[in-house]
Amino acid sequence: MCRSLPSARLAVRTVGAGCPSVDAAAAARRVRWVILALPYRQIAPVVRRLAALGAVGPGSWVVHTNGSCGREVLSAAARAGACTAAAHPFLSFAHRRDAPPLAGALWGIDVEVRRRSELIRFVRALGGTACAVPPGARALYHAAGVFAASHVVVQAAAARSLLVRAGVPPRAAFHGITAMMAGVVRNLARVGLPQAVTGPASRGETDVLRRQIAALGAAGLDRDLVRLYRICARQAARLGRAKRERGRRGDGGTGRCREKEENGRRA
Ligand SMILES: NC(=O)c1ccc[n+]([C@@H]2O[C@H](COP(=O)([O-])OP(=O)(O)OC[C@H]3O[C@@H](n4cnc5c(N)ncnc54)[C@H](OP(=O)(O)O)[C@@H]3O)[C@@H](O)[C@H]2O)c1
Repeated sequence: MCRSLPSARLAVRTVGAGCPSVDAAAAARRVRWVILALPYRQIAPVVRRLAALGAVGPGSWVVHTNGSCGREVLSAAARAGACTAAAHPFLSFAHRRDAPPLAGALWGIDVEVRRRSELIRFVRALGGTACAVPPGARALYHAAGVFAASHVVVQAAAARSLLVRAGVPPRAAFHGITAMMAGVVRNLARVGLPQAVTGPASRGETDVLRRQIAALGAAGLDRDLVRLYRICARQAARLGRAKRERGRRGDGGTGRCREKEENGRRA
């Protein structure tokens, strides 16, 4: 659903199906599943309009993709008799022409228990895994997504600014950071938490850390970023201690292997 035809055309091209339209009510009348990928503040007013026009009702599903709220924002559709749900893909969509693959994604859902299996089938059809996240837990759930997506970009911006101050040309700095981050994500997937943590704080090298923090201060870096560096270093130190503890116990296997073993034991 879009307000402008160019956006609707682009959405159809990206999804690879559908007809571009800005008449939300006419589009909703034609389908059984109405998926609202709208900004948080637009969801309730759009749903009120759809319900008032009789575009949703018994037999239809109205689902929003927002992570921060549950199905309560769709109450106008529920009153009109529609099944309502929140189904948030735990993914980052930064570019309208290039969506990340849906296969393998976690989806945080909120739906009536008696309707849950139908929504889970919908998520599975998209290659995802659905987990119930009720309204009271959605702020926490959404904050997790912010850590894993938006804050990673904040860290990249900080790292680029430091590399450039250290004399690395901006383009080389950016490529260096994306290569480093891709490697970190690979390590996380391969060895899990806390094994993927690296760096001086995780190794307990306090003298190296002191020199770095002094250099950040001397470079006139934004004081918030210096504070952020200290906070992240403390968290990295904590993960590093857990990693070393596991190493001492000889428990250095990958998170994935451990999960498989645990699942095997449960089955
Ligand atoms: N971006 C992500 O990484 C991500 C990930 C998971 C879930 N989500 C959720 O998905 C939803 C959309 O996020 P987004 O990042 O795609 O936002 P966005 O880039 O701002 O896109 C919002 C879309 O909603 C349309 N729209 C806005 N107001 C409307 C209205 N009153 N009537 C009809 N269409 C309207 C816009 O159409 P126009 O272009 O024509 O204005 C645009 O196509 C949010 O609830 C978000 O929490 C986002």
